[in-house]
Amino acid sequence: MTEAKRLAGEKAIDYIEDGMIVGVGTGSTVAYFIDALGRIKERIKGAVSSSEQSTARLKALGIEVLDLNATGPLALYVDGADECDPHKRLIKGGGAALTREKIIAEASAKFVCIVDPAKRVDVLGKFPLPVEVVPMARSLVAREILGMTRAQPVWRENVVTDNGNWILDIHGLAITDPVALETAINQIPGVVSVGLFARRPADVVIVGGEPPIVL
Ligand code: A5P
Repeated sequence: MTEAKRLAGEKAIDYIEDGMIVGVGTGSTVAYFIDALGRIKERIKGAVSSSEQSTARLKALGIEVLDLNATGPLALYVDGADECDPHKRLIKGGGAALTREKIIAEASAKFVCIVDPAKRVDVLGKFPLPVEVVPMARSLVAREILGMTRAQPVWRENVVTDNGNWILDIHGLAITDPVALETAINQIPGVVSVGLFARRPADVVIVGGEPPIVL
């Protein structure tokens, strides 16, 4: 899968336009995108980063990292996913960066998602759905989600997000209505964000391969 991730990451460079500020996601597929971005860095103005991990990689390559509050809306966001359905709706947050990823996706005119073929599914939910929660609300949110879905929330122990919060992973879902589930989980007090990207799905999905497939 490493080669497929590299091919997807490098293909996303096709969407870069001169002078752009690029929204940059998080994960092993995005790492290949960042490396490719480093090779054309003089063509871009900078990047808005979704995690401390991506910020470090961008800075190491000499790419300026900018504050979303200062840049305003972005033309392009490139990020990976843990699952992707035929409607380009996604599960994200395997790397615990879902909240900042969701903020940048919302702020961006075009969201290009880069995945390896194993990420494609018909129905979302085999990958445990990440939910970022304020620490004091962990068991409240878990109980509410269990009551709502009958699926099993598991605390991702020893993980603290870049925002100082915790992650619950919801096991055993088959998400037939992703927009409804995203909306319902967002209503629970203490939920910071849910790793379902259905209200705002990807606009383009690049599946890594030789050659890459663009959906
Ligand atoms: C980070 O929190 C996630 O949303 C990643 O985008 C996702 O886990 C994809 O990661 P890989 O590219 O490492 O598979």
